[in-house]
Amino acid sequence: MEEQLSLDFLRVVENAAIAAARTMGFGDRHKADEVAVEAMRKTMDSVEIDGTVVIGEGERDEAPMLYIGEKVGLATHAPKALFPQVDIAVDPLEGTNLCATGAPNAIAVLAASERGGLLNAPDLYMEKIVVGPSCKGAIDLDAPAADNLKSIAKRLDRDVEDLVVVVLDRVRHEKLIDDIRAAGARIRLIGDGDLSAGISAAVLGTGVHAVMGTGGAPEGVLTAAALRCLNGQIQARLVISKPEDAERLGKMGVKDPKRIYDTEDLAPGKKMVFACTGVTDGNLLKGVRFFGEGVRTSSMILTLDDRQVRFIDSVHLEKRPDIKVRFY
Ligand code: FBP
Repeated sequence: MEEQLSLDFLRVVENAAIAAARTMGFGDRHKADEVAVEAMRKTMDSVEIDGTVVIGEGERDEAPMLYIGEKVGLATHAPKALFPQVDIAVDPLEGTNLCATGAPNAIAVLAASERGGLLNAPDLYMEKIVVGPSCKGAIDLDAPAADNLKSIAKRLDRDVEDLVVVVLDRVRHEKLIDDIRAAGARIRLIGDGDLSAGISAAVLGTGVHAVMGTGGAPEGVLTAAALRCLNGQIQARLVISKPEDAERLGKMGVKDPKRIYDTEDLAPGKKMVFACTGVTDGNLLKGVRFFGEGVRTSSMILTLDDRQVRFIDSVHLEKRPDIKVRFY
């Protein structure tokens, strides 16, 4: 599945990113998301899979496209043909506000695995801690921030003062931020986008050593899919804030709502493809560039089985006969 479908999934995230990037800075996060969803859905239709969305834009009654349970891929048009059964997790525009304001690190994201390979997580919050390969096994979601930072620093052979932790800039994180500051680590507060921050934490040289705090559960599953391929680690726990949440989880078959999920619990698949394309410029990927004669995108494709990490720079010629391609 992985090798064969990687390039198809690349097209899916590239097209979503290009559509969203056209709206960059317009101040309309809903529009930005809408066009990304439409482009992603349309491109997905031509991919030779019998796909089911397990992480998407929401429940069927609240999302017109890419809703949880929606069937996607060529099998929806050619039901007699035999295509691989694939579970799909998408975030067509991770960081809708980032795109709407032209801020860094908005990305278009897709993960795929064999059936059952991605946790069907509800759209709740999740407490998370994310680290890269060197710190795998050194973290504990229930430990005080200072203890985790000490372990991370030890694994990275540096002082706590030399660490950078990414935290979503939210009121709910006041205590966490105080604790990290008291421990002496440096903090990068972000307006949105803990998924792209999580990927950065697993790639050396990005200057991000950990991500801590509470963000979306769907983003947690997507982060786990990327980390499986990058050999990093996420620990996470669903946040139940209302009685309805617990009820919803019960219906979804979640028996222990206090469970700590590790990377392989969130993304247990044996086969995994993770694809993302930069919408706005970011730590890992450049944003979409429109240059009159074409469009340039920068993407990352990760595959678990054949252990490939690909950084892909694409020039989309847009059927222009007079195109000039520049070497960067
Ligand atoms: P959108 O892409 O839907 O705008 O979400 C971005 C995001 O910042 C995620 O990266 C994060 O997990 C979540 O929202 C945090 O939620 P909230 O904004 O409610 O704190």
